[in-house]
Amino acid sequence: MNVSVSGTGYVGLIQGVGLAKKGHSVTCVDIDRAKVESINAGVPPIYEDGLKELLAEVRKNGFKATDDIRQAVLNSDITFVCVGTPSSRHGEIKLHQVRQVAREIGEVLREKDYHVVVIKSTVVPGTTEGMIELLEEHSGKSYPKDFGVAMNPEFLREGSALDDFFSPDRVVIGSTDKRTRDLIRKLYEGFDCEVVETNFREAEMIKYASNALLATKLSFINEVGNVCKRMGIDTNVVAKGVGLDHRIGPKFLRAGLGFGGSCFPKDVSALMHKATESGYYPRVLRAVLDVNRDQPGKLLYLLDNKLGSLSGKRIAILGLTFKENTDDVRESPSLTIIKDLLMEHADLVLFDPMGMPAVMQLFPQLQYAQSAQHAVHGADAVLLLTEWPQFQDVDYGDVYVLDGKNVFNTKDRRPKNYEGICW
Ligand code: UDX
Repeated sequence: MNVSVSGTGYVGLIQGVGLAKKGHSVTCVDIDRAKVESINAGVPPIYEDGLKELLAEVRKNGFKATDDIRQAVLNSDITFVCVGTPSSRHGEIKLHQVRQVAREIGEVLREKDYHVVVIKSTVVPGTTEGMIELLEEHSGKSYPKDFGVAMNPEFLREGSALDDFFSPDRVVIGSTDKRTRDLIRKLYEGFDCEVVETNFREAEMIKYASNALLATKLSFINEVGNVCKRMGIDTNVVAKGVGLDHRIGPKFLRAGLGFGGSCFPKDVSALMHKATESGYYPRVLRAVLDVNRDQPGKLLYLLDNKLGSLSGKRIAILGLTFKENTDDVRESPSLTIIKDLLMEHADLVLFDPMGMPAVMQLFPQLQYAQSAQHAVHGADAVLLLTEWPQFQDVDYGDVYVLDGKNVFNTKDRRPKNYEGICW
């Protein structure tokens, strides 16, 4: 099938390269010329495991990027909208990019026979229906007679996005039009998973409810951990025992500093905002965000207790990204902790296998070590703030190690002077 993908962030680029690998003819579109050139030169603008190699492979078969949305839409049967939906200060998502793309596609549809537009960006329930109105207004045509629309949420984790793309747990196709649903089903033929057909709002809500439930699991285990720590109970043993119940499952029960990244904080806030707007105040979601916001403070409290005044104390921060295997520092708890420690005049030395370039832009004045081992040398305390497994192999000697991410989630290899944030 001929496919165009609008937006070359994590979602769009993985979707484009992934579909190209599946044999479809794909063109990715972005307004950012630098990104387009980078992709066409074989250099992904984001880091993702295996992406560079796959990009090289699919480029040989015609995969390309462009800033010309008109040509891309004209030459394809289906367009995925994967542009950003940033948050406002109040937690609601801003839809200007999605709306702009819908307007542009609408104009192109004036010159084109049947075409299917698929919203893949994470959007609150009701948004896709609004996009249909925009498409109709700008194309002078009508849904579903002249063009199709669907909502097809993504469930990709950064760091394992390609695996998640090729082995999804499910594909959700939200549309009220059978012809559209059939076309998308055909596109995903060969993916070994259940396909769930829904209407637009159900598809939009499946994405939010999935992320909100995962975030709830995390705040829940962090709260259990906070209680366990006070009572001298090993949270990790408890999490193991709880996770063996097949109704609960072992995943997303690793207690720690709380969740970061581009999805969970934003999506839970957006759902909260939308729920409140609809007249329902979501108490569980509020608590999920509150627990998450307060976790970094727990770490700082323990550090204060251990070192007394932090002024002038040398603190090694290992881990800057919001999780392992990514260079992404968006909403990373490390950033909050760095700011707090700077307010206390601590002397910081930072290390992360992949996140240092992004943090250097935010804090150019700080000291960055060339390895975790170098950072630890001479430190009064070490904070483990990302679950990079290689931090297990550092020689910490006698220095106080405060683990915020459960890097040492079993007792056997822990450093001598070790403490967990909530275990
Ligand atoms: C998430 C969703 O998993 C994905 O389906 C969605 O499409 C985008 O958002 P991602 O943000 O890449 O993916 O990361 P994820 O692996 O889900 O982790 C989110 C956060 O939770 C990270 O900060 C991670 O460190 C933390 N986490 C995860 C824990 O603290 N404990 C755990 O047990 C699991």
